[in-house]
Amino acid sequence: MKRISLLGSTGSIGVNTLDVIERSPERFEVCGLSAGSNLDLFVRQVKKFQPKVVSIFDQSKIRTLRERLNGLDVAIHSGEEGTVKVATWPDTDLVVSGIVGSAGLVPALAAVQAGKSLALANKETLVIAGELMLKAAADKTAIIPIDSEHSAIFQALNGEKREQIKRIILTASGGPFRTFTREQMEHVTVAQALKHPNWSMGSKITIDSATMMNKGLEYIEAKWLFGQEVPVDIIVHAQSIIHSMIEFVDTSIMAQMGIPDMRVPIAYALSYPDRLNTELPSLDLSQMAQLTFEPPDYLKFPCLQLAIDAMEAGQTMPAVLNAANEIAVQAFLDELIPFKDISEIIRMAMNNHKCCPVTCLTDVLEADRWAREEARKLITVVH
Ligand SMILES: NC(=O)c1ccc[n+]([C@@H]2O[C@H](COP(=O)([O-])OP(=O)(O)OC[C@H]3O[C@@H](n4cnc5c(N)ncnc54)[C@H](OP(=O)(O)O)[C@@H]3O)[C@@H](O)[C@H]2O)c1
Repeated sequence: MKRISLLGSTGSIGVNTLDVIERSPERFEVCGLSAGSNLDLFVRQVKKFQPKVVSIFDQSKIRTLRERLNGLDVAIHSGEEGTVKVATWPDTDLVVSGIVGSAGLVPALAAVQAGKSLALANKETLVIAGELMLKAAADKTAIIPIDSEHSAIFQALNGEKREQIKRIILTASGGPFRTFTREQMEHVTVAQALKHPNWSMGSKITIDSATMMNKGLEYIEAKWLFGQEVPVDIIVHAQSIIHSMIEFVDTSIMAQMGIPDMRVPIAYALSYPDRLNTELPSLDLSQMAQLTFEPPDYLKFPCLQLAIDAMEAGQTMPAVLNAANEIAVQAFLDELIPFKDISEIIRMAMNNHKCCPVTCLTDVLEADRWAREEARKLITVVH
């Protein structure tokens, strides 16, 4: 029986994780749950899965949460401190982080520092503080990726020697604007950007997929997970059937394939090194007309190059990229800026940033704070 604390239980990753857990009650027990502010769904989840500890980030909702959970034997917390309590709960074996954005960093770091295995969907954690996370995990505990691309690479590497990797081939769907011209992209709406062709996900990652910043963040994530020295090539594969590939030194390529359903990589992360019988529908290759591959268009999707540049600059630059992106994406969702300004805000914030070394959490949090303020100022200027 694996005891799981799930951070971000009310989100897309969270709901899918609970679905996987529910299908294997003999293998998993929910020990802790944390949410942001969706009280109604959270209360239903707590009543159903009966965890020992829960936390809601939105402190204004703690009183109502206590009232609605009255009579249950559960420790109730709130705020970031509460999320950390859930992430470090003594009984927990594995922490799943499905929080969105840099808010996931502090609880994820606390989890690995407490020696918990970490199944990580929250890619922003590794983007902004990859080195700190790896140092904290060291040989003490494992970070198992949930992102489908990194899960694919992780699976393709099973039993292989890391020094025999020639390159990682990171696949990208290309998002909803893959076939749009640059002129058409000048006028895209929020509704269009939120329509991902293959995946159903939270709004922030869906916009990141439309700008292809998602692939840029995944490029950085792959560098931290699989080695900075390993070349990472990005290829657009519109069908999202091959989730990523590894080329080895002998030029053999291992690809991991499957239906585009996050429950598959989540199940692998929860059950690793075993595999679960998920009872999900099998991939029917005879129904796939074709699998296509094309190079990404870096001019049409400038966020991709910005992320690669941020990783190359290193130090606090990836944290600045991430924070400016979070602010710009929210401004686009709030219809304050057009789609094309997302990359411009990030570019300007990066240009205005003076990189500093990352020696501790404070360095990252300070860069994150600076970049948010800077991006907000830039939005006011362009708005
Ligand atoms: N969705 C996918 O298929 C997918 C695939 C690969 C990777 N990922 C990554 O997984 C992460 C989650 O994505 P998602 O699509 O599941 O996002 P989502 O649907 O927006 O869910 C985000 C979750 O985080 C919670 N949350 C928000 N702010 C918080 C805070 N300050 N403290 C604690 N919890 C907070 C939300 O709570 P409330 O809703 O209660 O406010 C919600 O439970 C992202 O990093 C994303 O890049 C997602």
